[in-house]
Order: sequence, then C-alpha cells, then structure tokens
Amino acid sequence: MILDHLHNAHLYEALHPLFAKGFEYLKNTDFSKVENGKYEVQGEDLFAIVNSYETEPREVRKWEAHRKYIDVQYMVSGTEEMAVAPLHSMKTIQPYQAENDYALFEGPGETITVPTGFFAIFFPTDVHMPNLIHREACQVKKVVLKVRVEEAVLLKLCFASNNKYKLEEIRRVLNDPRIALYTLEEMGIREDLPENGNTLEYNAWQKANHVYSMHGLACFADDTGLEVEALDGAPGVYSARYAGEQATSSMNVEKLLKAMQGKTNRNARFRTVISLIMNATEYRFEGIVNGTIAEKPKGEGGFGYDPIFIPEGETRTFAEMSLDEKNKMSHRAKAIEKMVRFLKEDYLQNA
Ligand code: IMP
Repeated sequence: MILDHLHNAHLYEALHPLFAKGFEYLKNTDFSKVENGKYEVQGEDLFAIVNSYETEPREVRKWEAHRKYIDVQYMVSGTEEMAVAPLHSMKTIQPYQAENDYALFEGPGETITVPTGFFAIFFPTDVHMPNLIHREACQVKKVVLKVRVEEAVLLKLCFASNNKYKLEEIRRVLNDPRIALYTLEEMGIREDLPENGNTLEYNAWQKANHVYSMHGLACFADDTGLEVEALDGAPGVYSARYAGEQATSSMNVEKLLKAMQGKTNRNARFRTVISLIMNATEYRFEGIVNGTIAEKPKGEGGFGYDPIFIPEGETRTFAEMSLDEKNKMSHRAKAIEKMVRFLKEDYLQNA
C-alpha cells in the first residue's frame, strides 16, 4: 500500500509501466467537469471509475482485494478513511470471482486518512475497505484508476510425468493462473524417474521425491492402478506392465479379459495416489472410482484400460466418453481436485 499526494506521484512511476500514463491522466483532467462513470485511458489495461458518494460507517462496508488490477484511489474532493490489511492476515469469506475481480475478507486492519489531492495505491496483496467516514459522513468525489497487472504466479509446480493425456486432464482441473505447471520436459529433466515400489503410495512418492531432491523443484507425481476384486486387487500397482515389461495397453487389456473369463464378480476400481512434495513436506491425495470390467473392449477415447472399465452408474466405458465426461468422475480427477483444493484453500491462501 502506498499513500501520497499527487504531486509526488512521479516517485512511484517505476513500479508499473502504466503508472506514468495513469498519473498524467489524473493530473491533467479537471474532474469537477467529469460525470460519474467509467473512462478508458488505455482500453481495459488502464481505466478510471469516477464516483461521487457519501462516506459510510465500517459496519456497512466490506474488505476486498483484487487480482487483475491495482487500484489507485485518488481523492478529487473530500476526505475519507480507508482500511488496509495484508492478504495473508485475512480470512476469505467470499472466494475470488473472476467476473468481478474481487474476493471478500474479514479480519483486523489499520486505517489511513486520505484527504483531497492524495491517492492510495492498493496492490493485489492489499486487502482494503475504502469509502469510510472520517470524523463525520460527508460527500466525496473519487477516481479509482484501475491498472491491469499480470496475475502473479505464486507457485511453480513440476508434474513428474511426460504423459500429455494426463497433463491435459490436470491443466483442465487446475485452471488457476497463480499456479504455473511444468512438465519434466519443460524443466529439462530427461532421466527416467525411479518407480520400483510395491505400492502406488511408494511409487508416487519416489517419483516426486526424485525431482524434489535432485532438482530442487516443488513437484507432484501420480501413480494409478486398476484393482480388480476377483483378481485379489491385481493388476494394481503393476497395471502398466501386467502383460510384461514392454506390454502395450491392448496386450494388458487382453490379458485382463482372459483372467476374467468365467468370473461373475466383475467389480473393479481405479485408484490414483498423488504425492506432492514442497518445502520438504509430503502431502498425499487419493482418488477412487468404482466400476466393473466390461466383457469386451468398447470405445476409442482415453488410454490404458479405459475401453474395458465401466464406471458405477454408467453403461459406457471410459473410452466411450469425452475427456470432460471422464474428468467429472475419474480417479485421477478426484485426486487432482483434492490436491488443487488443498493448494488453493490452504496453501495459496497463506502465500
Ligand atoms: P500410471 O501410474 O498413471 O502410469 O498408470 C499405470 C497404468 O494404469 C497405466 O499404464 C494404464 O495402463 C493404467 N491407467 C492409469 N490411469 C488410467 C486411466 O485413466 N484409464 C485407463 N487406464 C489407466
């Protein structure tokens, strides 16, 4: 947060490429002749909202913060108080809405007085509550200059895989500009990752831990198995190489269908374990989808065992569904959603 008089605005021009243009606009405009409304200075990158109103008591106001825009709040006439608090000290009471570019908060904060001719700059990490009464309610005129910022990337995460299909699935669920996702290839990691455990948990940890400890990157890895009840949980952790080290998906499917011949119990489940390692701590997430093994392969989509897995409540196999349909119910999507929820609600909230 910055508080200063417009005369000193030049001191802050280096902070953003559009500040100079914005301050010039504030200095060269006679706002006494400007009606309330929105005025573009440089399209949607830099615009002003001119407003006249009566200052209000705290009880009727809300704490807010933006992500896409910095606010430069300039008092044309009158004096008001504005409360301010750092983002990490506040509790979110209404999650961020991209359409309105704000989230709402509650918590403690400090109050500043902003008289005529002064401006306050609120960056995306400054939760603020403007328009407050100073001594007694009065009429004020204010310009809020909105200055677009690139949304800050708060977390760089490596996904320990080169599987493009999985990456696409994960990007669709993640969909948060604050988290930048990189593949092994993008991080220049070319070696094969170790994966020789007897459990999904160990394998996921082993891959993520390799990237974390050898390359120093926050990283997550997944491991998935198809667990078939009538086969005592096989192929499980060995799903990828069920029909041998060099097995293709169709060879695995063929072997499984053979093993299932004559079995009446066709119950099975896909189970995904994600191991996320950051700041020397492992976080684990699990996603399960129950279903049955089809009599024969059906559908062209997906990969692996998709053509023979019918999720509960469905008549089609995963391979007969679109990626979006599968994403809504898949084991990996469930595990990813848990990880994303953790990152957004627990981790980034305090970043
Ligand atoms: P991974 O641990 O994700 O590489 O999965 C091990 C094996 O499980 C893969 O080689 C596939 O055969 C199978 N598998 C994993 N996820 C899926 C899925 O979403 N659909 C079908 N098969 C899968």
